[in-house]
Amino acid sequence: MFKQLRVLFSLILLATLSVQAATPEVKVFKTSTCGCCGKWVEHLRANGFTVTVTDVPSTAEYRVKYGVPEKLASCHTGVVNGYALEGHVPAREIKKLLESNSKAKGLAVPGMPAGSPGMEMGRADAYEVLLFDADGKTTVYGKYEAK
Ligand code: CU
Ligand code: CU
Repeated sequence: MFKQLRVLFSLILLATLSVQAATPEVKVFKTSTCGCCGKWVEHLRANGFTVTVTDVPSTAEYRVKYGVPEKLASCHTGVVNGYALEGHVPAREIKKLLESNSKAKGLAVPGMPAGSPGMEMGRADAYEVLLFDADGKTTVYGKYEAK
């Protein structure tokens, strides 16, 4: 009896864990007038993320709160499993980061490059997804070509 219960509990635990792994919650802070922010949120949802959006007067204080260097600033700031997300970061890069157990602070796409998720406009500029650490040091995490 106890053995069956233990098996049952481990199965429930496993199921809970895999659901969390499949759909980690992304908290997004954006200004109410930001259209491209909403489109990025749609992109995340379409890729399986659960997203909670909070409209704020300015995202600058969230960059400070989550350790995003000001030089990497974009239009919105998010956080997922303790990692900061600044700007139009593609969902696949976020998934890659979540699977990596990286000690980095987060990912950023500085500015708002045309063609990044949520910035579709018939042309795509080349841009880089940057991984940054607590000291603000960046490394290139993903590269996207102009189209
Ligand atoms: Cu934007
Ligand atoms: Cu935005």
